Amino acid sequence: MNDTANPTRTDPILRLTGICKQFGAVTALDDISMDIHEGEVVALVGDNGAGKSTLIKTLSGVHQPTSGRIEFCGRSVQLQNPSDAITLGIATVYQDLSLCENLDVVANLFLGQELSPWSLDETQMEVRAWNLLKELAARIPSVREPIASLSGGQRQTVAIARSLLTDPKVIMLDEPTAALGVAQTAEVLNLIERVRDRGHGVILISHNMDDVRAVADRIVVLRLGKNNGEFDSNATHQDLVSAITGAEDNSVTRRHARQHSTEAGE
Ligand SMILES: Nc1ncnc2c1ncn2[C@@H]1O[C@H](COP(=O)(O)OP(=O)(O)OP(=O)(O)O)[C@@H](O)[C@H]1O
Ligand SMILES: [Mg+2]
Repeated sequence: MNDTANPTRTDPILRLTGICKQFGAVTALDDISMDIHEGEVVALVGDNGAGKSTLIKTLSGVHQPTSGRIEFCGRSVQLQNPSDAITLGIATVYQDLSLCENLDVVANLFLGQELSPWSLDETQMEVRAWNLLKELAARIPSVREPIASLSGGQRQTVAIARSLLTDPKVIMLDEPTAALGVAQTAEVLNLIERVRDRGHGVILISHNMDDVRAVADRIVVLRLGKNNGEFDSNATHQDLVSAITGAEDNSVTRRHARQHSTEAGE
């Protein structure tokens, strides 16, 4: 955490330049560059093994890049461990959510960050939990419900709300809708929009192109550890599949083209 600059409002909160990550002989990330601004959702897409999780882990302090530069609010930073990232204002919601099934919503929200660790201020934590969930328009029946009795979408909501307690500038979500049905997916996508509206920068990893196009302001494609295109939300399904697979012509794009010509009555 060094190098000071004077960021202006239009500067990105987070800027990655030339990030490389080697695991022995394996090059997981090769010269990745990417910007995240406040109040925007950037989707990170790519096939299995493209490097998405490695990139997220590099930004959350789990892995250190082999080379390259991470700038946060105009300053070059080194994230030696996950607490460096959290202290700086980069929060991560991993796919497993890391919630305690037997504890209620309040306890899960404040786990490890109890307001007054020596004498837990239950009332204050409950009020703060309600306020946060209300602000996010979250549909949680009671903050005293154990996590075990909540749906997948509600659990995802609790995990996202928990990551917001430290008021991060950037929040990274790894496949938040992967295990969810249609209604719950819509609920989580709405939640992501509300998180963006609060001014946070959001990095969303997803394999679901409909979700990505519904909520992302920009879509960054990784392929074999490299940048392979950047799109806005007007990108077609075919554009994205081509960039992800590296081929203009494949079974998914052909099926998509067939559907389109049928819809057009050709
Ligand atoms: N700890 C590690 N040690 C060695 N190789 C690794 C390690 N972590 C990731 N890799 C390799 O780095 C590459 C990128 O993996 P990564 O998990 O980042 O992909 P991904 O885009 O998240 O894929 P998925 O969609 O399957 O989650 C893969 O070739 C993977 O085998
Ligand atoms: Mg992954």
